[in-house]
Amino acid sequence: MSKPKIAVIVGSLSKQSINRKLGEGLAKLMQDQAEFEFIDIGHLPLYNRDFDNMPDFKPFEDIKPQIRGCQGVLFITPEYNRSIPSALKNVLDGLSRPYGKSVWAGIPAAVIGSSPGGAASAMAQQHLRNVLVSLDMPTMAQPEGFVRWSDTLLDADGNIGAASHDFLSKFMSKFLAWVQLNSKK
Ligand code: FNR
Repeated sequence: MSKPKIAVIVGSLSKQSINRKLGEGLAKLMQDQAEFEFIDIGHLPLYNRDFDNMPDFKPFEDIKPQIRGCQGVLFITPEYNRSIPSALKNVLDGLSRPYGKSVWAGIPAAVIGSSPGGAASAMAQQHLRNVLVSLDMPTMAQPEGFVRWSDTLLDADGNIGAASHDFLSKFMSKFLAWVQLNSKK
């Protein structure tokens, strides 16, 4: 595989999102080794299975080609009340339907996330892993990406700071190797 294309899905819709900043830092860190496409999920309606029978209303169908064009998916999730944000569950559900037309099956994935608290989004990530099993996405087991947010995680230019550089480089290198191993594209 030449340079793989990785879809990045950030669970936060906030303009100030620390998880989006983390994602942008990771994309910069690995820009020589992979191409990163951030998938916009903020405009999606709340998924309703009635959409499956509405051929003229296809907000979820419209973004399926973006996912299909990628060899891997990096999920970056905040923790909301010990789980994943509803916006993230919404895109996972919406793109898993209509039945039999899920976009997710077989695409290698990794999970990472940040929070200022000591738990560093760990419980949200565990909930997300549960969903990804159901969606049949081969998900990298280790290293786990529990990133405690601090002002020094990124430098002034948005690059991954010195303290986390080695860990996050290793995380991303292992993910790209995981994609190489598991991607069918
Ligand atoms: C949070 N936050 C939070 N943090 C945490 O570690 N565990 C939690 O259960 C929660 N719960 C929670 C619920 C809701 C509704 C909000 C808005 C926030 C704090 C959260 O980690 C913090 O706001 C992060 O900055 C959110 O990530 P983004 O949106 O900045 O990427």
